[in-house]
Amino acid sequence: MKEVELAEGVYWVGAIDWNLRNFHGYSTHLGATYNAYLVVDDKIALIDTVKAPFYEEMLSRVSEIVSPGDIDYIVSHHVEMDHSGSLPMIVKEASKAELVTLERFGEAGLNKSFQRDWSFHAVKEGSELSLGKKKLVFIPTPMLHWPDSMASYMPEEKILFSMDAFGQHLATSSRFDDEVGLDTVMPEAAKYYANILMPFGDLIVRAVDKLGGLDIKTIAPSHGVVWRSYPEAIVNAYGSWGRGEVRKKAVIVYDTMWGSTDKMARAIAEGITDRGVEARLYKLTDSDRSDIMMEALDARALLIGSPTLNNGMFPTVAGFLCYLKGLKPRGRLATTFGSYGWAGGAVKAMQQELMQAGVELVESGLDFKFVPDKDELKKCVEFGRTMGERISASGD
Ligand code: FEO
Repeated sequence: MKEVELAEGVYWVGAIDWNLRNFHGYSTHLGATYNAYLVVDDKIALIDTVKAPFYEEMLSRVSEIVSPGDIDYIVSHHVEMDHSGSLPMIVKEASKAELVTLERFGEAGLNKSFQRDWSFHAVKEGSELSLGKKKLVFIPTPMLHWPDSMASYMPEEKILFSMDAFGQHLATSSRFDDEVGLDTVMPEAAKYYANILMPFGDLIVRAVDKLGGLDIKTIAPSHGVVWRSYPEAIVNAYGSWGRGEVRKKAVIVYDTMWGSTDKMARAIAEGITDRGVEARLYKLTDSDRSDIMMEALDARALLIGSPTLNNGMFPTVAGFLCYLKGLKPRGRLATTFGSYGWAGGAVKAMQQELMQAGVELVESGLDFKFVPDKDELKKCVEFGRTMGERISASGD
């Protein structure tokens, strides 16, 4: 097994989950990695662990470099079990190691999660852990992605161990951004942001400002490849995503029962593009909600369509709106449309959901009975044109 060194004495010792296809409801078509790092100095520190089923893989990587029993510190940046899951096993193996975690939330979170009574070396903002020639400086990053989350910075090598922030779900035999290329890594970083971190835009901006003050050469996140060639690109992207920057683009998300809402969606898209705005259509029966959220990351408007079923919306649309509400996209325009048989209900139900999603509802929802006729389809095109104009008027 070839050692992967980020800098002298700093190794990647994580695990590759090639077959992961779902990470708490987010589709991971390309798998994932759980990144752990080992620092070998006068003292030896293991930075995070891996999901429990991958413990042996991590242990064998560590064992190639040092004897696990020689580890002095195990740093836990985050309670979530994709990073802490191997703690119970490694704590036994590295029996002399001190567990280092955030005073606030980390200690209680780890003990409760694993039903233990571990003692900790607790750290807080600015605490330093000297390892000899190198040290770690701790930086709490609350809600990136849980309240207990923190990052650490190694000034001597200018490495930021950023935890979930700047990560991507991407299983690859390459460990560095330049080995896979920005074209591959950036869309996965965007998808990760859209599906995990989108609700925390304000905190992201604050964290990026805080981390931007550091002299960073390498960003070592807890998922995906290490940013050694393009750290600035991902920091800038986080700033833009965190500020909710969007462009002239509409994402039309809908489902259809007998094709009427589908016809409406296509006519609306035609109207939007007539006004020089990009439109993307996603039929929920055939699409993945996490892919849609990645598409929505830079879209000014969301248009949601549904046929009426049992006086309400289609179950796939209800599921999508539940997901959207949790991710709270901000600074987006939104509207609704749909079709119905004897009585409507979907448009009103969708609007009620959207009001709780943090978007700006514009235009009354558009709905038609049974199959939209020629005149009604013209109205859909007009509706799309009006949305296109609104999107254009709201700037890039
Ligand atoms: Fe990768 Fe929030 O855990």
